[in-house]
Amino acid sequence: IQNEAFESIANANSLSELNEKRIKYLGKKGAIQALMKEMKSLPKEEKPAFGAAVNVLKQEVGQAIENRKAELEQIEMDKKIESEKIDITLPGRSFQMGNKHPLRIVQEELEDLFVGLGYQIIEGNDIVNDEYCFERANIPKDHPARAMQDSLYIDPEWLLRTHTTAIQMAVLEESAPLLPIKVVCPGKVYRRDDDDATHSHQFMQMEGLVIGERVTLSDLKGTLEFMAKKLFGEDKKIRFRPSYFPFTEPSVEVDVTCHICGGKGCPTCKGTGWIEILGAGEVHPNVLKMAGYDPNVCNGFAFGVGIERVAMLKYGIDDIRHFYTNDQRFNDQFKRYE
Ligand code: PHE
Repeated sequence: IQNEAFESIANANSLSELNEKRIKYLGKKGAIQALMKEMKSLPKEEKPAFGAAVNVLKQEVGQAIENRKAELEQIEMDKKIESEKIDITLPGRSFQMGNKHPLRIVQEELEDLFVGLGYQIIEGNDIVNDEYCFERANIPKDHPARAMQDSLYIDPEWLLRTHTTAIQMAVLEESAPLLPIKVVCPGKVYRRDDDDATHSHQFMQMEGLVIGERVTLSDLKGTLEFMAKKLFGEDKKIRFRPSYFPFTEPSVEVDVTCHICGGKGCPTCKGTGWIEILGAGEVHPNVLKMAGYDPNVCNGFAFGVGIERVAMLKYGIDDIRHFYTNDQRFNDQFKRYE
């Protein structure tokens, strides 16, 4: 029995196999227990020696099982360690990083520039009512901007804001009669335009508003020239052309030196040397009055710049629809400007 047991235990290849062998040799109905039973039939004088020998055998078999068990456990542990090994020399898996959208890049550049001049950034809701979009902006009831074909109405009263001037009106009302106000208000605006290379039914503007005690048109000019130089280069100049907006008086359209020819005249600027970039003016006294300011005490300027327009000029983009079709090849090109 002894040799057979030792060999069989050494050959057990798993813990469960080893357990079967333990039962076979040491169990209640096992081989060693059977030897004990045989003792009854032995002559009296042989019993003690036989009993002692069986006990030794029992202990040795028990020890052999314990030893094999430790071995098997070690083997299993080694296997586990091997299978969980990490090869730290493998190169990392690369994953694709997103990048900022060109409109976001321009928006942040404008925000940084104006925050540097002491402006606050204020946003508003995309859905506004007629009062803030038009009424408080001194836009009369029969003005074409109010017509269904130009604005996206949700119901007769509420619409998607057609310009960030709607944010300006809310800021004015909330601030009155405190002075000064210096804010820029970026946001999406919506119009019922047919999309083409230069029109989009949704685009972005940034409104600027300064109200104080003697805020002149030359303050506006200095501010916008600073902006133009930062955006397009130190060699750029701006010029004002008379214009009309219901919420400013006087109103101007602002041109910047053509970035293609540097002002000499080329097809891009139709030979003029200038490119139009935004609308602006001195805030209309009616607008100040409606918001709760006294136009005899304070005045100010406002401007509204199109973010797409700036991005198109800056990066030479020829179609506004590129901003909204999300072609990865288009978007990827702006990684280097972040
Ligand atoms: N709200 C005007 C537009 O949408 C832009 C503008 C803003 C003009 C502020 C003057 C002053 O075109």
